[in-house]
Amino acid sequence: MSFRLQPTAPARPNRCQLFGPGSNTKLFTKMAASAADVINLDLEDSVAPSDKDTARSNVIQAINDVDWNSKYLSVRINGLDTPYWYRDVVDLLEQAGDRLDQIMIPKVGCAADVYAVDALVTAIETAKRRTKRISFEVIIESAAGIAHVEEIAASSPRLQAMSLGAADFAASMGMQTTGIGGTQENYYMLHGDTRHYADPWHWAQTAIVAACRARGVLPVDGPFGDFSDDEGFRAQARRSATLGMVGKWAIHPKQISLANEVFTPSDTAVAEAREILAAMAAAKARGEGATVYKGRLVDIASIKQAEVIVRQSEMISGQ
Ligand code: COA
Ligand code: MG
Repeated sequence: MSFRLQPTAPARPNRCQLFGPGSNTKLFTKMAASAADVINLDLEDSVAPSDKDTARSNVIQAINDVDWNSKYLSVRINGLDTPYWYRDVVDLLEQAGDRLDQIMIPKVGCAADVYAVDALVTAIETAKRRTKRISFEVIIESAAGIAHVEEIAASSPRLQAMSLGAADFAASMGMQTTGIGGTQENYYMLHGDTRHYADPWHWAQTAIVAACRARGVLPVDGPFGDFSDDEGFRAQARRSATLGMVGKWAIHPKQISLANEVFTPSDTAVAEAREILAAMAAAKARGEGATVYKGRLVDIASIKQAEVIVRQSEMISGQ
C-alpha cells in the first residue's frame, strides 16, 4: 500500500438503483415498495422538455409525501448544459424535506461541473439552515467524462457514487451502436471461423472503478436497455461485479431482483471467503504467510480479497 491509504467507500448497499420519470407519478409508490436499495427520481432525459416544471414539482411533493422507508433517495437533475438544472437544485433544496439523500448530476465532463453544483447546494443548505448534507452521485457518459474521470472522482467530499451511462457514452464516443450496455454485434475477435464476443464497455468500467476506488467512491454500472433479456442483464452485471462495481441500475422493475441477485455475494462465495480467512489464520499461527486452499495458493493478498466479500455480505445483511 502506498503511504496514502485507500479510502473506504460509503458502507451502504447500492446493489440496484431503480429509475422512474418524475413525470410518471403513478410509479412513485411502486418504486418505494420495490426491493431496490436506491431510488432515482428522474428530472432529466426520461422527462420531455414540456414536462420539466411539472416533473420537478411532482418529485418534490413525492419526496415529502411518499413513505420511502429505508431507500436511499436520489433525484437526477438536468445537465449543466441545459436551462433547467439550477431551478432543479434551488427548488429541491428549498422545498424538499430532509428525506432527500442525494442529487445525481448527469453528463459530468470535468471536476468544475461538480464544483458548480456543490457551490449552489452549499449556499442553499446554509441559507435554509438545512442540517442534513446532501450527497452527490455522478454519471460518466461522455468522452470528456471518461477522459477526466480521476479529477471527477476527487471533485467533492459530497461525492458517494459514480455510474457509467452506456447510451450517452456510446453516442459521445461515436460508437456505432444503438444498444444500451451488453454484447454488441460487431465487437468480436475471429479465431478461425468462430466469433468471440468481447466487452466494449470494459475499458470505461475499469477506468471508473479505479478512479472510484482511489477516492472512496462507489462504482456503479448504469442501464441495460433491453429489459426483456434477463440473461443479457445477468451477464453484464456479473462482469461489472467481477470488475469491482457494487451495483447496477434498473430501468424496469423486473431488473431489480436480477441486480440484487448478482451484487449480493452468494452463500457459497461467502463460505469460501470465510474458509480462506480461516486457512490464513491457521497459516499465520504456524508462522507462514502463504498456504494452500483447495489446491491453490492463498496468501496475505487473499485475506484482503476474502474480506471484500465478507464485508459486502455483512453490510448487506445488516442493512
Ligand atoms: N418503477 C416502478 N414500477 C414500474 C416502473 C418503474 N421504473 N416501470 C414500470 N413499472 C410498473 C408498471 O407501472 C406496471 O405496474 P402494474 O403491473 O401495477 O400496472 C409494471 O411495472 C409493468 O410495467 P410494464 O407495463 O412492463 O412497463 P411500462 O410499459 O409501464 O413502462 C418503461 C416501461 C420503460 C417506460 C418504464 O419502465 C420506465 O419508465 N422506466 C424508467 C425509465 C427511466 O427512468 N429512464 C431514465 C434512466 S435510463
Ligand atoms: Mg444519459
